[in-house]
Amino acid sequence: MIYLKTPREIEIMKSSCDLLSRTMGELAKWIQPGVTTMKLEMIAREFIGDNGGRPACLGYSGFPAALCIEVNETVVHGFPSNYSLREGDIVGIDSVVEKDGYNGDMCYTFPVGEVDQKTMHLLRTTKEALYVGIDAFKIGNRIGHISNAIQTYCEKRGYTLVREMTGHGIGKSMHESPEVPNYGRPGIGPLIKNGMVIAIEPMVNMGSRNIVIESDGWTCRTRDRKPSAHFEHTVAMLDDKAQILTTFEYIEEVLKERAI
Ligand code: MF3
Ligand code: CO
Repeated sequence: MIYLKTPREIEIMKSSCDLLSRTMGELAKWIQPGVTTMKLEMIAREFIGDNGGRPACLGYSGFPAALCIEVNETVVHGFPSNYSLREGDIVGIDSVVEKDGYNGDMCYTFPVGEVDQKTMHLLRTTKEALYVGIDAFKIGNRIGHISNAIQTYCEKRGYTLVREMTGHGIGKSMHESPEVPNYGRPGIGPLIKNGMVIAIEPMVNMGSRNIVIESDGWTCRTRDRKPSAHFEHTVAMLDDKAQILTTFEYIEEVLKERAI
């Protein structure tokens, strides 16, 4: 069952989404060779707590952290650890914050130092695919239009889409109906309606689409160990218009300063 949100609920959801977006901006400042992913975890927990939020991944079905850390071939659900980021790595940070009773969910894949052109192209394409998906989140379309738009965009560029994991509805719970797959036919799935709030999250592989879950029961990596990228926004349909509730602005401000 899909819980459609009132305009008031969508307004409340902006606070968790904004806190999460600002948390990601803080993390962006720390991403460089030598930093451990556990350090990022500690910064996130402190920032979220200091600002009245709750890290919703921590303890979710036993997940041990506030952040999902996705280094290189890790697709989703990696744990923070004493691993130090290295020049040339890519690291996806996926997190959910609960505030005022509602959840916000987002993910950004960061380059660490200089990253080779081929991998940068994967990052760019995955981020573009997220916005292509958001463009298909329109009244009159079905969820399948989003799925198909993302799949078509990425496959045209030679990439593959992970099928076992999907985007999802979001609200009082982190995962609600409907599922939002990153592949499929345009005519399928529920009709898009006002009050729908969904997390759109393409997980895009450079090699084959096949994945493996590690023995920890969570960490999902590519079977061929080629890189995978992941970007995610929480998006609401309000007054016939898609509103992106999370933002990459805080992150990209930091990354831009660094590039100069
Ligand atoms: N964005 C991720 C998802 O929708 C967040 C997972 S949190 C976890 O799956 F606790 F399940 F890891
Ligand atoms: Co999600």
